[in-house]
This record gives sequence, structure tokens and C-alpha cells, in this order.
Amino acid sequence: MSNAQPIINFIRSVFRVPEAFIPLHAPYFGGNEKKYVLDTIESTFVSSVGAYVHQFEAMMQSITGAKHCIATVNGTTALHLALQIAGATHNTEVITQPLTFVATANAIAHTGASPVFIDVDKDTLGLSPAAFAEFLEKHVVVNDEGYAINTHTGKRIVACVPMHTFGFPARIEAISELCSKYHIALVEDAAESLGSYVGEKHTGTFGIMGTFSFNGNKTVTCGGGGAIITNDDAIAQRAKHLSTTAKLPHAYEFVHDEVAYNYRMPNINAALACAQLEQLDKILTNKKDLASTYTKYFNELTDVSFVTGIENTVPNYWLNTLVFNAPAEQQSFLQKSNEQKVMTRPIWQLMNELPMYKNCLTVNVENATYLSKRVVNIPSSYRP
Ligand SMILES: Cc1ncc(COP(=O)(O)O)c(C=O)c1O
Repeated sequence: MSNAQPIINFIRSVFRVPEAFIPLHAPYFGGNEKKYVLDTIESTFVSSVGAYVHQFEAMMQSITGAKHCIATVNGTTALHLALQIAGATHNTEVITQPLTFVATANAIAHTGASPVFIDVDKDTLGLSPAAFAEFLEKHVVVNDEGYAINTHTGKRIVACVPMHTFGFPARIEAISELCSKYHIALVEDAAESLGSYVGEKHTGTFGIMGTFSFNGNKTVTCGGGGAIITNDDAIAQRAKHLSTTAKLPHAYEFVHDEVAYNYRMPNINAALACAQLEQLDKILTNKKDLASTYTKYFNELTDVSFVTGIENTVPNYWLNTLVFNAPAEQQSFLQKSNEQKVMTRPIWQLMNELPMYKNCLTVNVENATYLSKRVVNIPSSYRP
């Protein structure tokens, strides 16, 4: 592959690191992180009660424009809870994309529901509304009770979970229209898309709920953390209740009224999250600058393209993404770059190929298969 070495050299020059290891995405702690974390230790409020959790939720509301935010221990639990509230349970189905991080499918499986895999678009890397519409028209009816029924399996389709891959927004407005038409709840897996917009609207605000991750590899991190956002008062109340062991308010008694979870984000993590969110704009600007440097370089090359998302969207450029023309070029670049300590990664193995999901209904994976053999993520960290 002729271009591998010049690309590796270019990445090194961009990060001004001539020899040392370059990670794919390192966290950047340039603000009040130590101060706020120390504050939780000194106050002893490190666990599931504390002011930083509320502050984090208020900051997420202001960033996303959502009316409510419920902080959770990670993005997987946020999605699990959101799907349970949306009605996912045994003998139901949830639509998602085959090209996603395994947590999306796992969260569906945790509710007892079965994932149904529908293809992605090549330009957004997210769920394809065209493929979704074709599936709905051919195989789904809305019954007398107003439920979407999959005529293949006889099961109710309760929810659809598109994922904004690497921070590039999916065609979420078209997906949302289809969900409304077929009475399917839209829950966005926005784990990777904090700071990504469609028009003026933040990703995660197009359906009944959106979920986020603050894992160490994300745009901003709190070690481990997640969030559900929603504009619905009843959903917010229910999410908070289920995430806090369904404990009823009482001055000292332990009264719990249903089976629930210990999913609330601890205050020590929320402290870190607040310090990180304070710097979100700065981090996004820095990452956009990196993406524009990459864009200029890759626009000159012919055997690889640099993903920039679609019109009317603002990606956060969480992980910068290349699509090679041929699978052999992807493999050669992955091997050479990692050998030379420039960390690069392929996109995930398709969900329908994993042993636990291989028997799930898989409608169409043509574009997902194409991308899985060609996509590579290149170093994307904040550059101080
Ligand atoms: C698309 C997607 N969904 C869900 C998750 C789960 O988030 P977490 O690792 O915080 O559980 C992640 C990230 O890790 C992700 O990338």
C-alpha cells in the first residue's frame, strides 16, 4: 500500500511526536479536574449522593437543550434503562444497526428483547432510513392496538436505536419520521456524539430519550459515566427512580417499591465530569482544528477518503475516520501504523457476526460489510 508510510509520517507531524507512541484518543485534563475530585474526597461525599451529580445533570441539560438529564454509572446502563422504560422486554424487538459498538446490542439484550439489525448509510456510518423504510414497508404492520408488529416473527417492535457513529450524526430526522409513523419509540445511542448537532439540535434530542457515555476514550470523560436525556417529565422521573434502587423518599426508612438498579453516577465521577464539561467547547474547537488539518491532507489522496459527515450536521470529530478503497489497503495500513506505534483501529466486527447475536434477525448488511472492511480510525486526541 503506497500511501501508508506518508500517512503515518503526516500523523506524526500533526501531533509533533517524532518517535513515541501516539494513542488513538487520550483524555485531556486541563481544568478543574483535580480541584473538584479533591473536593469530593475532602467533603467525604464520593458516592451516590452529592452536589456534583446535580451540577453535572444541569450542565448536560444546558449543553444538549434537553429538559431533563439523569446521570448513570456508564453509557451501557443509560441505554439499558432507557430501553426498559421504552418498553423493551422479553418477546419484543428493538431495531438497531449491525455496525456499532457491542454495548448497543448488549443493552438491548439486557432487557430481554432481541435486536434486529438493519443496514447503515455509507456516508453517515449510522442507521440507514432508506433500509429502515424498506424493512417497515415489507415486514411491519401496525395492529389495532397501535403496536408495530414484525410479520416475520410475530413480535412487537418497541424501539429503534440508531447510533451516531464516531460522532457523525445519522439521518435522524428521517429515522424519527419513520418511528412516528409506525409507533416505534426512538432512543438515540448518542454515546459517541456529545457536541454533535443536526441543524441547531443536539444529537440525542430527536427521540423520547438519548443516552451518552463518559468512558475514558470519549470526547470528555469522568472515568466511567453515562447520562439519559429526555424532555418528558414522567420518563425522567421514572429513570431517576429506577436508577436509584426504586427507593421512596423517607427520612430514615428503606422503602423500595419495585425491582430496580444501582445505576446512579457517584459524586466523585460527577466532579470529574463537571470539570470536563466546563472545557467542552475548547476541546471541540481543538478537535475540529485537527479534523480540518486531516481533511486538507486526505482530500489530495485518491485511495482513501476522510469522513466529514453529511450536510446540515456538525460532527464532534470524536474519532477521525478513514475509508480505504480496498480491504487490503485497510489491513496494510493497520499493520504498518500499529507496528510504528501510531495507534489506529478498524471499525467493529458486525454485531450479526458475533456468536451471541448471529441468530438475530439481520435484514441487510451490505453497506455495513463494505465499511467494516475499509474503515480505520486514526489518532484524534486533543492537541495541547
Ligand atoms: C456506541 C456506544 N454505545 C454504548 C457505549 C457504552 O458506553 P460505556 O462504555 O460508558 O458503558 C459506547 C462506549 O463505550 C459506545 O461507543
